[in-house]
Amino acid sequence: MASSTVRPETQDRSAEQDVARRLLDSAAKLSYDPATEVDWDTPLDKDFHGASPEWSTLYGTSYWGELTDAQRKELTRQEAASVASTGIWFEMILQQMVLRDMYAKDPTSPRFQWALTEIADECRHSIMFARGAAKLGAPAYRPRRAVVELGRAFKTLAFGEAAYAAILVAEEVLDVMQRDWMRDERVAPFVRTINNIHVVEESRHMKFARDETRKRLRDAGPLRRQLNAFVIAIASYYIVTSMVNRNVYANAGLDTARALAEARANEHHKALMRSSCSGLMDFLASARLLTRPALFFYKRAHLI
Ligand SMILES: [Fe+2]
Ligand SMILES: [Fe+2]
Repeated sequence: MASSTVRPETQDRSAEQDVARRLLDSAAKLSYDPATEVDWDTPLDKDFHGASPEWSTLYGTSYWGELTDAQRKELTRQEAASVASTGIWFEMILQQMVLRDMYAKDPTSPRFQWALTEIADECRHSIMFARGAAKLGAPAYRPRRAVVELGRAFKTLAFGEAAYAAILVAEEVLDVMQRDWMRDERVAPFVRTINNIHVVEESRHMKFARDETRKRLRDAGPLRRQLNAFVIAIASYYIVTSMVNRNVYANAGLDTARALAEARANEHHKALMRSSCSGLMDFLASARLLTRPALFFYKRAHLI
């Protein structure tokens, strides 16, 4: 009967290749070239927001109440540019982790070809975010120096579920914001196009990241799971807390000290983050990655 018995690992491997094949088919049907899809030529209309105002770090504070409409719009434009710039920072980390993961793997496999397709997507996204941030009139926003160095270590060393779960967290957090912004008529049309492209293409990346995380954790012992749950939570903490750069307030003409203090105490924003990330937290819980030390960091980042 041996010939009719399929071993579980063989089944798993072919299921993985099926996922990759479906992702490749989907990418062939619907992918975008931001160089031609986005309206880069029409000058920025300052009557638009850069992001849905409800997503502003100051929305709901007393400072927000004192801002003029023009100041609010300038602030959300700087905030959107900062989120895009942090997106570039993380996409560069992610491309290197996926590339290292695929090093010397079987190039004829759908998984290999999907991984390279994802890297190509991210490369186009980063150029798109860079042009978008420049068009929003923003300077280069980068995470704090210490976080840049932590990211340098992470992208060089992280592998397996630590790499793919961190990728998933970054993609999901960006996704929940961009889903709102792409539908919002108060947001500049070119920003909505950028968000739409990103949401469509990232839904495939998130599927792959979820799949890889589950697969890598299958044979992880308790010690490895504990350790990587902790690493993923710390990576998530720095990704989420680096989204909005502290310089956005001065660049929007606001008082940085007051803005930072009110943003840090902004319960509306914390609640929005928590409710938007509930699906992600459910996934991490099902993967048993919400260990007690990990939860401490997710709570500090207001993801749960
Ligand atoms: Fe991306
Ligand atoms: Fe992605």
